[in-house]
Amino acid sequence: MPDTRAHGSTAVATGGDTATAPALLQIEDLTSSYGAVRALDGVSLTADAGRITAVLGANGAGKTTLLRTVSGLVRSSSGRVVLDGEDITSASVESMVGRGMAHVPEGRGVIAELTVHENLRVGALFRGKVEKSEYDRIYDLFPRIAERRDQPAHVLSGGERQMLVIGRALLAQPRILLLDEPSLGLAPRIVAQIFGLLRRLVDSEGLSVLLVEQNARSALSVADVGVVLNLGRVVVTDSARTLMADEDLRHAYLGF
Ligand SMILES: Nc1ncnc2c1ncn2[C@@H]1O[C@H](COP(=O)(O)OP(=O)(O)O)[C@@H](O)[C@H]1O
Ligand SMILES: [Mg+2]
Repeated sequence: MPDTRAHGSTAVATGGDTATAPALLQIEDLTSSYGAVRALDGVSLTADAGRITAVLGANGAGKTTLLRTVSGLVRSSSGRVVLDGEDITSASVESMVGRGMAHVPEGRGVIAELTVHENLRVGALFRGKVEKSEYDRIYDLFPRIAERRDQPAHVLSGGERQMLVIGRALLAQPRILLLDEPSLGLAPRIVAQIFGLLRRLVDSEGLSVLLVEQNARSALSVADVGVVLNLGRVVVTDSARTLMADEDLRHAYLGF
């Protein structure tokens, strides 16, 4: 079924816009291994500025490895990662925030003993002075977090933790946000809230998002473009709308 498609294709026009501005993030022929396990095998994709690009696939497809390689936590054995025209393939993970990339790993890691506000301040550690208005903006985006700002993070629900780690990443003022399975284990209503907020940030502030999700149905409902990974390879890249309409593809790779 997928063999009629462009494998690893990168030129996907969305919203009727066929202009060929270079993508904000270009991933070219990326290969990463853990010992003998090849987790990424020649992956190419792009994430355009002001768009949500969803990377979808079953457990073990290589989604987390992709984000970890892009952000420098895993070293690729070949291929390139280019951010806004600059080759960052060998850049250190510490340098990524300064380059405008923030990675929210899977698992919603917060420091349980610190308050919500202190956890946010951790997100600002790699920056100079952070204005109070920047914290206020995060609290405006996530009123549930604002209500709990002086409570220890361990009292937060899963959804609130996810909001906190996204808020913490936004304090780094990224141009592109890498999100690893933000919906995992959350009620559909909370997922819709978080994805709706991402959409607003993308549409109103020009944020770019590379969203990794096993929950393909929710991800495609918010994304502009979808990239399907299977066993470390790109199976298909297309507009979210087209992928959503492809019943065979959904059954074969997306689990719905
Ligand atoms: N730390 C690791 N050591 C060895 N193998 C790993 C490690 N992390 C992931 N893998 C393997 O790499 C492949 C891709 O995993 P991963 O990137 O976590 O996929 P996904 O996020 O799509 O579930 C899987 O076969 C997985 O078992
Ligand atoms: Mg994963």
